This record gives sequence, structure tokens and C-alpha cells, in this order.
Amino acid sequence: MKRILVTGGTGYIGSHTVVELIRAGYEAVIADNLSNSEISVLEGIEKITGVKPAFECIDLCDPSALDHLLTRHGGIVAAIHFAAYKAVGESVSQPLKYYRNNLTSLINLLEWMSRHSILHLVFSSSCTVYGQPEKLPVTEQAPVLPATSPYGNTKQICEAIIRDTAAASESIKSIALRYFNPIGAHASALIGELPVGIPNNLVPFITQTAIGIREQLSVFGNDYNTPDGSCIRDYIHVVDLAKAHVAAVERLIGGKNKKNFEVFNLGTGRGVSVLELIRTFEKISGVKLNYKIAGRREGDTEQVWADTSFANRELGWKAQSTLEETLLSAWKWEQYCRTTGNRK
Ligand code: WQD
Repeated sequence: MKRILVTGGTGYIGSHTVVELIRAGYEAVIADNLSNSEISVLEGIEKITGVKPAFECIDLCDPSALDHLLTRHGGIVAAIHFAAYKAVGESVSQPLKYYRNNLTSLINLLEWMSRHSILHLVFSSSCTVYGQPEKLPVTEQAPVLPATSPYGNTKQICEAIIRDTAAASESIKSIALRYFNPIGAHASALIGELPVGIPNNLVPFITQTAIGIREQLSVFGNDYNTPDGSCIRDYIHVVDLAKAHVAAVERLIGGKNKKNFEVFNLGTGRGVSVLELIRTFEKISGVKLNYKIAGRREGDTEQVWADTSFANRELGWKAQSTLEETLLSAWKWEQYCRTTGNRK
């Protein structure tokens, strides 16, 4: 049985990826410090897959934290690195917290991998590295523009750290996956997104408004240069995103990668505006959403969606879920959280 280390594996995308790794026949070893997730996620994974993944409460900022992991979990052939802080707004008010955590944890992981000859790394990156692309849909060849937040900058710097390490080491092979907008939850509604406090992101704010936790959604601007004036994004089902991580691990383990460092855009290839997403949510939920048009949010990109042809061709992966199915999964998860009180 091949073992995969999943750092940040109790988090939103990490937990869905662990489910897909297990379904694909891998064993997952989760390393997470639970700073932004709940240990109860392990039960959700077990209920879905029948397997309770190995878990180690580890803070990757501690350089020795991983040292003894292999004595308990040998045979790790690859790592998927999710563990990082990811709140754009918080990164602006607390930049050093983000630079220290996101860069130190990656450097410690890479040094540990090199010490133990673990040669394959999949890195969780973000389309935020593109800023507002000149050309849409955006391909992996689009220039990486100056980051608009310390969070986005940590993603750019981490990609550069990995690229340079892979070039120098000749042994580390890595893939960076640039996510567009992950939304939704596992169809079982046993795992999903657990935003801490008031959600920054659109879809959890919508579902919390629809269920009555939030009074009203603010649409941040309808005066953009888009068909209906609201911002456009590429919303991808988190399970489709998780499956791409399995494809990336298999590409590396199977030696199919064509360069030591590869980058893939993970989206649906379809841009959806905020107002269109609201209308779609109302249709699938039957709930009339209480929202108002507010001012623009500082730092927002006007419109961005992915050209996914490289991932489709080289990973043999394509997002499958429709926006309706994805929003329905998010709504089911919100209702499940309401009945179980499963909320941060
Ligand atoms: C989407 C659209 C908002 C909330 C961020 C990070 C990205 C990734 C995903 C980590 C925008 C509008 C939102 C609200 C609104 N994070 N909106 N009212 O900003 O595209 O991406 O989260 O990897 O790296 O940058 O996602 O969901 O916050 O916003 O009108 O209450 O919804 O203005 O146009 P974003 P988002």
C-alpha cells in the first residue's frame, strides 16, 4: 500500500483529497496542527471511506516535527502540502504571521523530504498568483503578476522555492496546482468547509444567509466591466479539485512528469458572475436570498477563469460537476451543519 503524507489534511480541500486518495487505493498520513480545522473531520472521512486515516498533530514550523513520523508511518512515497494560512484579508493585517508560517512550513517539509529521499511533492497553490490576467481564460503561461496580498505573495514565493529546489536537487519532482475558486462539499455532507467566524468567501456566506445565520449578503460591487457588473470567477467543486490531486500524485509516482516542476490550472474553464451564482443558488435551493449591492471590496480581481486544457490533457483530469450540483452540495452541507451544530 503506498502511503501519501497530506499536510493540512483535516482542512477543507485536504480532507476531500484524503477521501479521494483512499478511494484510489492509497494510505494517507495526515499531519495537521488543527489551527484551522477540527479533529472530528477524521470521523467524517472514516464514515465515507470506512478507513480512519493516520493522524499526527504536527506544526510544520517546528523543524524537528516530522523527524519521527517515518518511524510510525514508513513507506511514504509522496507528500501533498496544504498546510498554510489562507485568509487574504488577515494576511494584509498580519503579514509576518503569513510569511513565517507559510514559508517556514514549506522549507521544513522540503528539507525533511530531501533527508528521507521522498521525491514527489504536490503543492497547493492558487490562481491568485495571476492577479488580473491580461488575457482570459488564463493559461499556465500567463505572467505571474505582483501579488495583491501577502497571502498571494506567499504562494508565489513558495512556488519559486519549490521550483529552485527541484532544479537544484535533480531528485525532487513537484507539481503546483493553482486552484481557482473551490466551493461545495462531499455529496455525503459528512465533510465540508468550516469557515471560522464570519465567512470571507462568497459561497459559505450565501449558504449561511440562506439558512438564517447571516442577515444579508453584500454583493461587493456591480459596476465592474462585466456583463452584469459583478465580478466573475471560476467556481470548482472541491471533490473535482481533490481528484486532480490524486492525478498529480500518480503523474509524479509514475514518472510521467515532463519537467521537475510543473504547474496546472484547476478550474472548470467557465466564468460565473456573483449575481449569476446567486440566481443559480436560489434556483437549486428554492430560497430567495436576501442580498444588497454594496461597494467594491479592496483587492478584488474583476474577472478570472481558467484555461484548463493543459490539466485536461496532461493529467487526464476534467472537472465534472455542474454549478447547480456544486451549489446543491454546499447547501446540503450547510443544512447538515445546522442539524448537527457542526460549526466553528
Ligand atoms: C468571490 C467573489 C467577491 C464575499 C479568494 C482567494 C483565493 C482563494 C479563494 C484560497 C468576489 C464576491 C465575496 C461576499 C461578495 N483562497 N463576494 N460578497 O476573493 O475570488 O478568492 O478565496 O486559496 O486565493 O483570493 O473568493 O469567495 O472571497 O469572492 O460579493 O460576502 O465574490 O467580491 O468577486 P476570491 P471569494
